[in-house]
Amino acid sequence: MKKILTLCFVCLACFAYSQETATLALSNDSKLTISKYIYGQFAEHLGHGIYGGFWVDKDLPVEKQDRIRLDIVNALKKIKIPSLRWPGGCFADEYHWRDGIGPRDQRPRMVNTNWGGTTEDNSFGTHEFLELCSLLGTEPYFAANVGSGTVEEMSKWIEYTNSNSGSTIAQLRKQNGHPEPYKVTFWGIGNESWGCGGNMTPEFYANEYKRYAAFAKNYPGAPLKKIASGPNSDDYNWTEVIMKDIPTWDMWGISLHYYTVPTGDWGHKGSATKFDEKEYFETMERCLKMEELVTKHAAIMDKYDPKKNVALVVDEWGVWTDVEQGTNPGFLYQQNSLRDALIAATNLNIFNNHCDRVKGAALAQTINVLQSLILTDKEKMLLTPTYHIFDMYKVHQDAKYLPMQLTSPDYVSGDKKLPAVNVSASQDAAGKVHISFANLDLHNDIKISTSLKDIKWKSVTGQILTSANITDVNTFDKPNTISLKDFKGAKKDGDNLVVTLPAKSVVTLELF
Ligand code: AHR
Repeated sequence: MKKILTLCFVCLACFAYSQETATLALSNDSKLTISKYIYGQFAEHLGHGIYGGFWVDKDLPVEKQDRIRLDIVNALKKIKIPSLRWPGGCFADEYHWRDGIGPRDQRPRMVNTNWGGTTEDNSFGTHEFLELCSLLGTEPYFAANVGSGTVEEMSKWIEYTNSNSGSTIAQLRKQNGHPEPYKVTFWGIGNESWGCGGNMTPEFYANEYKRYAAFAKNYPGAPLKKIASGPNSDDYNWTEVIMKDIPTWDMWGISLHYYTVPTGDWGHKGSATKFDEKEYFETMERCLKMEELVTKHAAIMDKYDPKKNVALVVDEWGVWTDVEQGTNPGFLYQQNSLRDALIAATNLNIFNNHCDRVKGAALAQTINVLQSLILTDKEKMLLTPTYHIFDMYKVHQDAKYLPMQLTSPDYVSGDKKLPAVNVSASQDAAGKVHISFANLDLHNDIKISTSLKDIKWKSVTGQILTSANITDVNTFDKPNTISLKDFKGAKKDGDNLVVTLPAKSVVTLELF
């Protein structure tokens, strides 16, 4: 890769900026689709994700349906979230769904032992969640309680949501105000069963899965997509045992959880807003580990499922930092910077490029928790840089995957380096090609020359997300510091596309 040094004669000081170059070759020789479910979200009963997030006090001065905040619903509808995982997380394995139906003032209360020891009043239960999904136009993804529940409890939850029969449990749903079955198809069989979900060995869990799955019944119009509790990060043995012991016909997917922890130290994870270049660099190294994880777990799955029928569902991912000062440590509330936008874009590029196996994912977590799309402070709300990445990337949902070859310059920091650029691309049903680039380099613009074999196009438009500083955030006082802008740095040069990607930016181009 060539480095161009340009002397700046304006100030006559010996100031130089440099521009790196990269090449990209795109082809449309593919039969793969980027599943929209890669763009899924996760909302747990944790901190102000549900209570004070989606579900607010009836007196809060915002537009609501029942107690669901409609400004949030409208913002999320814009980015087309395809699925929403609920009620946890670790919370799922202590959640008993029967506590969350019927008259709200009679619902039992419980203590949320995982997250801050708050009192859970169960006012947000099955019907409220499914009403939220219907308002969002999104598919529900339930995580069933395997850790402290029973097979009967899970089986009846499925019957309650999906059966149209005369059974007592189906009648109960009707009495509770929903005559038609909800037809919930995504069911997670437990969560993190190697940890908060029961500290199981993979062998024990595989047996449990089969027992639970046997009683997870299909009802008319609602064939289940059962998702096994998968590995923690690089626990490859977990994947091996699950794939070996559970028949592939009985499992729609297997989950994978991996968080980007800036320092790599769970005791001191690093701040969401105050970090230097060294910590930024290490964070991006840890973020890029997702590529290795997906590749290696997929290779194990290939041994048992060469036709790739079982999905890898990365249903918890994102950056996990220390909480904001003065907030409850059990609520996992963190700000969201331009760095987090680069993390989101890089992960989504990885998932898009592995769409042969990665057919679902869920960012943790939608509102006010970890890498959020939205932050709220009473009636105020803001869209985070991560939200804007999901807005920019929604064009890839259910589009044809375009394979590529990329040669990227290195982003060098001290004696370490990593690929500065990552990319993914797709073609939508109308024939428009979308290419998403992330430039992780904090200092260098990168000029990318792209050849597009067999792809006809005449014009290019684009959007960019960047800001003056990598630590920049949106605040309630200045909610638009980071937002999508038109991008003018791409042009046609013969048959090639030439793009100049600014340092620390994410760009999506549309070719038509
Ligand atoms: O997303 C926060 C927590 O992280 C989830 O509850 C759990 O599944 C994971 O460990």
